[in-house]
Amino acid sequence: MTNTNTTPAVITCKAAVIRKSWEPLQVEEIQVDPPKSGEVRIKMLCASMCHTDMTCCNSGFPVPFFPRIPGHEGVGVVESVGEQVTNLKVGDIVMTLYLGECGECLNCSSGRTNLCHKYPLGFDGLMPDGTSRLSVGGERTYHLVSCSTWSEYAVIDANYTVKVDPRLSPPHASFLCCGFTTGFGSSWREVNIEKGSTVAVIGLGAVGLGAAKGAQLQGASKIIGIDINELKKEKAKAFGITDFINPKLSDKSVSELIKEATGGLGVDYCFECSGVPALVNEAIEGSKMGLGTIMVLGVGPGKSVEVDYIPLLCGRTLRGSTYGGVRTQSDLPKIIEKCVNKEIDLDQLITHEVSLAEINKGLEYMKQPNCVKVVIKF
Ligand SMILES: NC(=O)c1ccc[n+]([C@@H]2O[C@H](COP(=O)([O-])OP(=O)(O)OC[C@H]3O[C@@H](n4cnc5c(N)ncnc54)[C@H](O)[C@@H]3O)[C@@H](O)[C@H]2O)c1
Ligand SMILES: [Zn+2]
Ligand SMILES: [Zn+2]
Repeated sequence: MTNTNTTPAVITCKAAVIRKSWEPLQVEEIQVDPPKSGEVRIKMLCASMCHTDMTCCNSGFPVPFFPRIPGHEGVGVVESVGEQVTNLKVGDIVMTLYLGECGECLNCSSGRTNLCHKYPLGFDGLMPDGTSRLSVGGERTYHLVSCSTWSEYAVIDANYTVKVDPRLSPPHASFLCCGFTTGFGSSWREVNIEKGSTVAVIGLGAVGLGAAKGAQLQGASKIIGIDINELKKEKAKAFGITDFINPKLSDKSVSELIKEATGGLGVDYCFECSGVPALVNEAIEGSKMGLGTIMVLGVGPGKSVEVDYIPLLCGRTLRGSTYGGVRTQSDLPKIIEKCVNKEIDLDQLITHEVSLAEINKGLEYMKQPNCVKVVIKF
């Protein structure tokens, strides 16, 4: 049965708008169109900040198109539904995701990737149909990966949502929309670490902490957390790291420090979660010759990264991942279950809370050493 309601009107509400790289966000009135076929419009309950939002504001990643409304982690209540939406109704509470899973395309059928052909990542700042639902003062405004959650209302393709498990708090559900799940999935699903493996995680934000937790649940014997921020040491212990290295306290390179901690061999799996381009080569060098796998999750400010030939030719596998390989329908519920039964404690991630009006304060908090996750409460 097609699930429609009376034709919804354009909504005027407040959102955080970025008009130019490096400029502060402006909280201003925007117009949010009604949902088109297959879409829902949601009233945001909470959203959270991921480093990728900062990269979007600072360098325009993934495309320097403005004006734009950032935010891709969030939870909202369905306010109206477009035609052809059969899986959601008004009042449902959903997570905003930037990928879907059709279950039938070449990639979904392979069971080996979360990158669906039918519901792909929208790097162009538009909805999957190539248009925007947002405008500011009559000017078309770009989405961020077809989400834009730093707004009182958002439109999202119903296939890019998952209903929130009522046992999960809205902020926890929001964290699972990107950062933490990306790290966790990368070690739990994307590379499926074998028991007893040695692991290094470079950069201990939500992504790195997720990678460490996934490695711990997979039974890794040694999980080396690496961060230039000393305050991450205690935090990361709660997510399973067994060793902590602060490269700032040494003259040695990150790869030398990893080798030193692993009897000269390097690790089986190295996760680059800082987004510092130079650390990709350190991650390669710090992994085992012939056996090591390097997972690149961090996104730097530029478009590309230079990789050294020789360590790669020496039998290492270099991989990248979006959302940790987590399939939104098949895998995400399993991670949610682990959160509900406390195998994963997401409370440890939340450090700051802001209102939408305080959005620039939130971006400032993200630069502070004690910050892991900023929640925006609407
Ligand atoms: N691949 C994906 O799907 C995906 C998803 C989410 C985020 N990301 C990217 O992953 C990266 C991490 O995201 P986050 O939200 O966890 O960020 P974050 O800013 O919370 O964490 C980054 C961590 O790296 C540390 N760091 C910075 N420079 C370092 C250095 N030189 N050496 C060691 N540590 C250093 C910081 O102190 C911080 O703890 C970002 O680049 C983000 O854009 C990718
Ligand atoms: Zn598919
Ligand atoms: Zn993100």
